[in-house]
Amino acid sequence: MPNIIEVHNINKIYGQGENSIRVLKDVSLKIKRGDFVAITGQSGSGKSTLMNILGCLDKPSSGYYAIDGHDTKNLSPNALAKLRGEKIGFIFQRYNLMNALSALDNVCLPAIYAGISPFQRKHRAQEILETLGLKGKIKNKPTELSGGQQQRVSIARALMNGGEAILADEPTGALDSKSGVNVMQILLDLHAKGHTIIVVTHDPHVASYAKRVIEIKDGQILSDTRNGEFKTIEAEILKKNKRTPFLYQRDQLIESLKMSVQAIYAHKLRSILTMLGIIIGIASVISVVALGNGSQAQILENITAMGTSTIDIRPGKGFGDRTARTIKTLVVDDANALASQSYIESVSPISSSSGNVIYKNLSSKALLLGTGEHYFDVRGLTMAVGRLYTKEEVLNGDPLIVIDKPMYDEFFPNGENPIGELILFNRQPLTIIGIAAKSARDNSDTLRIYAPYTVVMNRITGSRNITSITVKITDDIPPAMAEKNLTSLITSRHGTKDFYTLNFDSIRQNVKAASATMTLLISGIAFISLVVGGIGVMNIMLVSVTERTKEIGIRMAIGARPYNILQQFLIEAILICIIGGVIGVGLAYGIGLIMEKFAPDVAMLFSMNSVILAMTCSTVVGVLFGFMPARNAALLNPIDALSRE
Ligand SMILES: Nc1ncnc2c1ncn2[C@@H]1O[C@H](COP(=O)(O)OP(=O)(O)O)[C@@H](O)[C@H]1O
Ligand SMILES: [Mg+2]
Repeated sequence: MPNIIEVHNINKIYGQGENSIRVLKDVSLKIKRGDFVAITGQSGSGKSTLMNILGCLDKPSSGYYAIDGHDTKNLSPNALAKLRGEKIGFIFQRYNLMNALSALDNVCLPAIYAGISPFQRKHRAQEILETLGLKGKIKNKPTELSGGQQQRVSIARALMNGGEAILADEPTGALDSKSGVNVMQILLDLHAKGHTIIVVTHDPHVASYAKRVIEIKDGQILSDTRNGEFKTIEAEILKKNKRTPFLYQRDQLIESLKMSVQAIYAHKLRSILTMLGIIIGIASVISVVALGNGSQAQILENITAMGTSTIDIRPGKGFGDRTARTIKTLVVDDANALASQSYIESVSPISSSSGNVIYKNLSSKALLLGTGEHYFDVRGLTMAVGRLYTKEEVLNGDPLIVIDKPMYDEFFPNGENPIGELILFNRQPLTIIGIAAKSARDNSDTLRIYAPYTVVMNRITGSRNITSITVKITDDIPPAMAEKNLTSLITSRHGTKDFYTLNFDSIRQNVKAASATMTLLISGIAFISLVVGGIGVMNIMLVSVTERTKEIGIRMAIGARPYNILQQFLIEAILICIIGGVIGVGLAYGIGLIMEKFAPDVAMLFSMNSVILAMTCSTVVGVLFGFMPARNAALLNPIDALSRE
């Protein structure tokens, strides 16, 4: 029968250089399977240090250490954790239970890391807790249990994976004498069942339970006495159903996820504050992109409504030219000259005037738009009711008008038939012959009246010049070429270029280009805000690792491998980001709904792409910024983590 624990010439040195202290000095020790050993000595003699090395929580500075015949020197931290989890159960003076978990969940924890199925571990944990007299307490949190009960929970936890060797560091140190006796009795029972028990204590009474007492002083073995014999019995080892690597990984992932949710839930406020950066980042990106897309679509729709293959000719140097009013060179003959060009499909001179409309007892301001008979065609407008004026009526200057839908709604609120009705525009009587169908530009507040341009020029403005010319070009010529040709034609007619052209196709393109630039800009801002959010997450995760060092230590002591810890913290970071992302998306849609209700003119166009992109981004942020803190946690030395308060 091999020794369950064997150390040879181990030394432990704390600190470096002058300040270093040698706490263990060439300690050699063999512990047989099934023995009950007490390690005693005064406080500060090195008992705990030795115990931690025996339990693989700490590494000796030098010397040989084997557990169950395996040399631990060349084992990776992951392999060491596995060995620790399977062979050794710890009992600590201060119990080291997780306060957020119930007694049952605390006991189940080692089995999770050992990869035992949920059903089996629950069943077993319940059984052990019941044998230790904790029936009815299994749902209690540690804070709802007495010290003695907590210590029994921690014994149950030590037994969970089999606990061939149970290492107890001052197990009765924090208990009243009655509970202390109870705990020692349990250890004695376990010894009788074949478990190897190693108890560290400064109390001679506790040591008297043991079959072998090793006294150490100043890091050296002072005496080694056998007080009683024992029989080596095969301890009842947990026969676990082998899980396939896939099932094992899946279990670990589910458990990590559960623990992350618990951790996030346990620190609600902090979690939400952490998410805030991500929430704001994602919500603003999605809603700003939606706003951009919405207004772009609206603008493009309006431009399309004006006709894509049309070119406007207006006096002046460009938009907003104040001298344009004084330029009176644009005349109907210019329009006629253009009409004879092969690349021009139709032309409409425009002469507009704003003024006052009166019908019966109603009156309102309106824009009177004098046009040719092709205007509706050029602008893509259609009639809802009645007809448009004809070429002859335009030439004759017949006082006929077509009103737009908003005007009809205002002046004929009861749906009366307007055809044939007379209205007064600046005191001139005009006869309604039709209503234009609703178009995109009806969003504007001004009421519109369409009339032959001759009517506007002769009866209203009385001037010879016109406001603009709208041209529809044929499909077989590029708009830019047509624009160039008609520019040179009008320039030669006027002798100078005292007008400008508006090509709606190029405006359309400019709008698209401008919004592409905007999208790029917004994406940049979004990127920055996500990075800032990510740094927030990293910051909190780093704090969280520091704050939960003790928890990490406990997990490692009961068999969590570094990669389990890495996984847990990484998943927590990712989860925070994903939840933040989901809330952000929800917030953006909420803003969209509110806007729709209270500001229906503001168009927001949500795209699935931006949602997918935002979610991907927040996940990536979680991985990137969660990795460092998670790795810090995984790299902690178990005993350093455990001794942190
Ligand atoms: N992490 C550490 N760094 C430096 N010194 C330590 C550390 N841990 C323990 N020591 C020192 O090692 C000695 C033995 O400590 P310990 O093993 O805890 O004693 P015991 O458990 O017998 O009371 C003490 O002098 C203690 O101050
Ligand atoms: Mg100690």
